[in-house]
Amino acid sequence: MGTDYVRIFDTTLRDGEQTPGVSLTPEEKMEIAAQLDKLGVDVIEAGFPSASKGEQKAIKDIANAGFRASICALARALRSDIDAALQCDVKYIHTFISTSEVQMKYALNMTPEEVIETAIEAIQYIKDHGAICEFSPMDATRTDIEFLKRVCRAAEEAGADYINIPDTVGIMTPKSMERLIRELREVVKVPLSVHCHNDFGLAVANSLAGVEGGAAQVHVTVNGLGERAGNAALEEVVMGLHLLYNKRTGINTRLLYETSKIVSRLTGVVIQPNKAIVGENAFAHESGIHTRGVVVKPLTFEPFNPELVGRRRKLIAGKHAGRHGIKAELEEAGFQPTEEQLKEIVARVKELGDKGKTVTDADLFAIARTVMGKTAEEKIVELSDLAVVTGVRVIPTASVKLIIDGKEYIAAETGVGPVDAAIKAIQKITSSLANVRLKEYRLEALTGGSDAVAEVIIKVEDNEGNIVSARGAREDIVMASVEAMISGINKILLKRLRKT
Ligand code: KIV
Ligand code: ZN
Repeated sequence: MGTDYVRIFDTTLRDGEQTPGVSLTPEEKMEIAAQLDKLGVDVIEAGFPSASKGEQKAIKDIANAGFRASICALARALRSDIDAALQCDVKYIHTFISTSEVQMKYALNMTPEEVIETAIEAIQYIKDHGAICEFSPMDATRTDIEFLKRVCRAAEEAGADYINIPDTVGIMTPKSMERLIRELREVVKVPLSVHCHNDFGLAVANSLAGVEGGAAQVHVTVNGLGERAGNAALEEVVMGLHLLYNKRTGINTRLLYETSKIVSRLTGVVIQPNKAIVGENAFAHESGIHTRGVVVKPLTFEPFNPELVGRRRKLIAGKHAGRHGIKAELEEAGFQPTEEQLKEIVARVKELGDKGKTVTDADLFAIARTVMGKTAEEKIVELSDLAVVTGVRVIPTASVKLIIDGKEYIAAETGVGPVDAAIKAIQKITSSLANVRLKEYRLEALTGGSDAVAEVIIKVEDNEGNIVSARGAREDIVMASVEAMISGINKILLKRLRKT
């Protein structure tokens, strides 16, 4: 495979499942395993058989599913654990024992000599059963270096195929990790691996440094799941290896985003928006300078093409957005606004941004549909002012001021709610022009929060049987409804004019 190939040992289904609050059914584990196999990992650590009967079933099913990746199970350096792993039909066993003073004394209650002996016995037992053996001196990075070297030599002599160096509580720095792996490489010939935890947010950097020091394999989890602050994130380590270190892996990077989504859905662990590679914002640009840059040449503000990891670039309409970005985003979605329409759309987007709102694609398109529909129509009736009163002991009331042919008209009405009251007030003012009634009313809150942009889509009909549909999009439901109703009335009036 060459020295530039780094093996990807995925432990999403073992250490990843140790994420507080995460517990997967055998079916869910199988779905993730199938995706990891498709992704191209070299090893899938499917679980810890001693944990439960369900865990054993899940591992056995995965081991017999015919995947290309090697299927591994975790076992303490105990015969009973190793037997449980062998019964799951795996051909690869990862066995571990604590080697740091604090863990030997307080977690194992064993002397260093007992630890070495136990490790040797476990490795030999695994090898006697014909399985591949990966050995981890747990808490290696807090282990006395001379003792760690002794343990590694003993593990190699006992037949371990790989030695994994766990940074169990995540205390390494890239420098110390690189140095440690270099030092151990002088002691043993078996391929070394690193297993980094993220307690100081350095798991990915330490894994990459481990590879620089000569590690042939990295332990990773999808989305960086794992005990406490998690493990090194597969997607970040792999992209770093490929693009920053010029290394190869078996990973099809175009499946990284899809894999991250599947794991997030099944584990229920949401991905922070600003997470590298797979976070929602990882390829989103908002500021005018950036959006303008990426529209002209993506490389200006992107380290690599998002398609490489199965993603698409996103231009965000917000208060920092510029005309260029908004125009490009609208054009990509098939909108061709005129300069005047674009100006109005940008103004509305910035107005929302100033109120602290993020404008999603759906919001932007709703605004565009409304603005483009509205400026295309002539305005016979225009809104001048609107006031509504509503509450528990108050009858919802709306007062509306409209301008028709340059003259102001005011009406107030009550209704079952403020929307109903406002629409009735509009109908009252415009009844002499056209008796327009609401045939259909649909409200869509486009984004999640209570400050979402609401899109109101209506169908109206007059007493001559003219039917039109219209829409309004505002943060305020009453405003969106009024905008839609006035747009509907204008459309009806224009239709009538064209008939005469
Ligand atoms: O973090 C750790 O030390 C582990 C071991 C089981 C390898 O997960
Ligand atoms: Zn771990």
